[in-house]
Amino acid sequence: MIPQDFLQQLLDRTDIVAVIERYVPLKKAGANYQARCPFHNEKSPSFSVSPTKQFYHCFGCGAHGTAITFLMQHAGMPFVEAVKELAGRVGMAVPDDGSRRPPEEENRRDKSFERMEAAARFYRQRLKGHEKAVDYLKQRGLTGETAARFGIGYAPEGWQSLREALAAGFADYADPLLAEIGLVIAHEDKRYDRFRDRVMFPIRNERGQTIAFGGRVIGAGEPKYLNSPETPLFHKGRELYGLYEHRRAIQGDNRVIVVEGYMDVVMLDQHGVQNAVATLGTAITADQAARLLRLADAVVFAFDGDNAGRKAAWRALENSLPQAQDGKRLSFLFLPEGEDPDSFVRTEGADAFHALCDQAMPLSDFLFAELTSQTDLGSQEGQVRLAKLAEPYLSKLGQAPLLKRMLQQRLASLTGLEPPRAQRGLRGAPMQRSPRGRAGVQPSAWQIALQAVLHDPTRATRMVELPESERPESVALATLVALLREHPELSTRDLVEHFRGREEQGLLEHAAAGLLAWDEDYDVEADFQGALNTLSAQAGRAQARELSGRKPSELTPEEKTRLLASLQRRKPPPA
Ligand code: UTP
Ligand code: MN
Repeated sequence: MIPQDFLQQLLDRTDIVAVIERYVPLKKAGANYQARCPFHNEKSPSFSVSPTKQFYHCFGCGAHGTAITFLMQHAGMPFVEAVKELAGRVGMAVPDDGSRRPPEEENRRDKSFERMEAAARFYRQRLKGHEKAVDYLKQRGLTGETAARFGIGYAPEGWQSLREALAAGFADYADPLLAEIGLVIAHEDKRYDRFRDRVMFPIRNERGQTIAFGGRVIGAGEPKYLNSPETPLFHKGRELYGLYEHRRAIQGDNRVIVVEGYMDVVMLDQHGVQNAVATLGTAITADQAARLLRLADAVVFAFDGDNAGRKAAWRALENSLPQAQDGKRLSFLFLPEGEDPDSFVRTEGADAFHALCDQAMPLSDFLFAELTSQTDLGSQEGQVRLAKLAEPYLSKLGQAPLLKRMLQQRLASLTGLEPPRAQRGLRGAPMQRSPRGRAGVQPSAWQIALQAVLHDPTRATRMVELPESERPESVALATLVALLREHPELSTRDLVEHFRGREEQGLLEHAAAGLLAWDEDYDVEADFQGALNTLSAQAGRAQARELSGRKPSELTPEEKTRLLASLQRRKPPPA
């Protein structure tokens, strides 16, 4: 948790236009800025950024939010990363709130990064004059340019080569940190370099800092690849090789290809396929899948065409099912037997590889192909078995209700069993109503009031008489008004940020996004006044009902006056 007042100060000093402009070219259009939406493909601009509201909204795809949301959606950063990024730009330090690392640990991390960087630099330099390593890479078809782009290096043969690398001023070979970050192995009283006589692939985090290495033996030998162990800097189930180098291309293509090996990523890149990443010797984790799905709508998993490849693909399927979302595509590509993406792209070229990706097997086909291969659909027992086998997989599709339904229907047609009834919510689920009202739908007084307060938070002081209501808009409005009473200085985007992660978030974001859709000459004040009248009349009627239900003797003089006034208001006009 980052303190609210820090977020406010941060957003105060941040200009959303400048933030977005770094990723998307913006054009001034009236009070706002416009662009072709970076979140969906379109020919004419429907993406709008408001400098006064510090909010963006796309009228085409509905994407919207603050500068923080933009970095999360566009750059795929987790919330805290996005906050840090913005803070770094305006020179603010994200405060320590207890859950963050204490300063000693932060210091330790900085030192760890420095040492990793020193090692990476050393390995890169050592590759230069080293004939055996250079020849090996050349013989694999790698150019010097590609090697430089990925920071590929060479770890020399000696037991303590890193001594030299670190002597350059800031570290001692005996420093225990070197063992902690996996560069050095400490065994009894001996210490030696983990990586010796290997081609080195630095693994970088999303900011481009080196956090681990994969080292390949030159030619044949065991183990073929030696990797950094899990360290405080490196968790192999979270990181993806090539993500730092390829993030932009992935977003540009709106597709990411997940391969198995370092060399696959590197050689695909050299041949112009720059949207691939690799897992680090393990099946893709849910965390990794979620990360990729934040960056692109399509994920293609590429595997070798052999048995091991199919097994690995199945594990990838199992781990990514819970991350599948309606509107996103997960698919599986099996290379011809004996090929991997590296060898394939070298012999067949990038276009052929892209073509394979285009024809990759959709998740649903792969799922059913595997499950039906384990059953005999000719018998009823086999059909029942299929239904049983499929059940646990379908139940993992919590984030993809439509896909789940389609798979249930497909299962039903294979087994002859009835699919579960469509839940009512599914078909008739209302889209969240635009606060402006969809064509023909009048926004309620609550919605108008909510938007008007978001538009100008000082209006909160005028919201005194509200009827009681359980409607989400009214609950959100009441919370908003209470918050503004305590903190009248909050602006539109502060209010929206305040509710991040809470139930009201969607509703408020939507209402705020709707502000950008207002015509220049929309008279919000008139509508607000109208809404206030409606709501206070409702409140008055509710109060009168309550007062008239009590004994007159129990009413205070003030309550009597109010009851009387409301009864008079309700009297029919004189004929
Ligand atoms: P592969 O055995 O498929 O090798 O391992 P590759 O990527 O084709 O390697 P080259 O082309 O022979 O150089 C795929 C990935 O599995 C992990 C590595 O991450 C590797 O990139 N791996 C493999 C290891 O960690 N250790 C090993 O010994 C082998
Ligand atoms: Mn290979």
